[in-house]
Amino acid sequence: MSHAAASSPAPLAARRSGALRGRVRVPGDKSISHRALIVGALTVGETRISGLLEGDDVICTSKAMRALGATVERTGEGAWRVHGVGVGGFRAPDSVLDFGNSGTGCRLVIGAVAGCPVTATFNGDASLRKRPMRRILDPVELIGARTISATDGGLLPLTLAGARDPIPIAYRTPVPSAQIKSAVLLAGLAAPGETVVVETEASRDHTERLLAHFGAEVKVESDGATGRKITLKGEPELAPAPVVVPADPSSAAFPMVAALLVPGSEVILTDVMTNPLRTGLLTTLREMGADIETLDERTDVGEAMADFRVRSSALRGVEVPASRAPSMIDEYPVLAVAASFAEGTTVMRGLKELRVKESDRLAAVADGLMANGVAFEIDGDDLIVHGKSRATGGSTVLTHMDHRIAMAFLVMGLASEKPVAIDDASFIATSFPGYVPMLRGLGADLS
Ligand code: S3P
Repeated sequence: MSHAAASSPAPLAARRSGALRGRVRVPGDKSISHRALIVGALTVGETRISGLLEGDDVICTSKAMRALGATVERTGEGAWRVHGVGVGGFRAPDSVLDFGNSGTGCRLVIGAVAGCPVTATFNGDASLRKRPMRRILDPVELIGARTISATDGGLLPLTLAGARDPIPIAYRTPVPSAQIKSAVLLAGLAAPGETVVVETEASRDHTERLLAHFGAEVKVESDGATGRKITLKGEPELAPAPVVVPADPSSAAFPMVAALLVPGSEVILTDVMTNPLRTGLLTTLREMGADIETLDERTDVGEAMADFRVRSSALRGVEVPASRAPSMIDEYPVLAVAASFAEGTTVMRGLKELRVKESDRLAAVADGLMANGVAFEIDGDDLIVHGKSRATGGSTVLTHMDHRIAMAFLVMGLASEKPVAIDDASFIATSFPGYVPMLRGLGADLS
């Protein structure tokens, strides 16, 4: 059981704060952290990871890798060592694999297990048990895995028998999702021949990059105007390679927006990953008039990163096209908060996938905006926020076991007229341990 899910609710309130100032490095990227552990576990030899996110979600994945036969050790802060079992080499776990709150960990490991001749049972907390797994089971069944049981046909808990003889498939993802793509690629590692994934809109490509970094043959081509075709040559000999995890742009988003909204602020965020498939929020905030200066752009072990200087800015409403959603899918709660303080209307299109995140994020954001006096509409899958220079605040937001709803509405409270409270801050530990002390260190009033 993950530590957030086991602890009791921790209410917290954010109050209008003086200028935020300082220099911070947010924790390591969650997507890369999960993948480094999983790919390391499928590699023969020792993979060294630095900057790993030590949040509850990633810890669940580390435990799952141990249960499947890899040796996984923490050697220092963010420093981990993985001795893998090789492609197709997982052993059957003795107990249920518990992914806590983590959709990414669960879905990617379902993919990795699907390519190995072992049976495993997957479970998670009350939030994860509501999230669709059929989208992963469908392709892995084509590869030859068998769903022995799944709650209501496609929910956790579920038991999967991995394929004895995995079949290479060509698969078009039905929704833009890096998790579906990654699950297919990880399952396809053990299949002879080429596994192909086609996506209509490019999603984050960390799995492809990491597999290539470990020596797999991965070909990436464009497909139509916005899509991609990824071809993986099966049965590679993955060779251990060091992984340096940059700071998570999805976590940096919160202090970034806080610094924009709290008057007089100037915050420097260091080592933030700038993979173009993750920078939709940055593009959008700059279109809104945000003063975000790129200080030092560089590339370290396959991923680009930069430092950013963020100064408080008067924002104006913009239209965010649906095609941008995959590159900022986790950033809409905090963008909705930024939009609440912007002059004019911000239209966020194509948010359907938000309904199946850690909570129904569209509903959770709408409830939070409503409770705090922000005018908005939902039109189909679009969220339209009518901002004003200072949101009202004054209410408690229900976070529904969702770390990003918790973090986003605390940001609102730092700049709104009246305080904003959240019912439970404990789930912040799934992706951003140290969030509250970090904001306090910048000058935020949280208690
Ligand atoms: C992730 C992909 C996204 C994102 C999640 C992390 C990943 O989900 O919301 O937080 O690491 O692959 P989808 O792929 O389902 O959109």
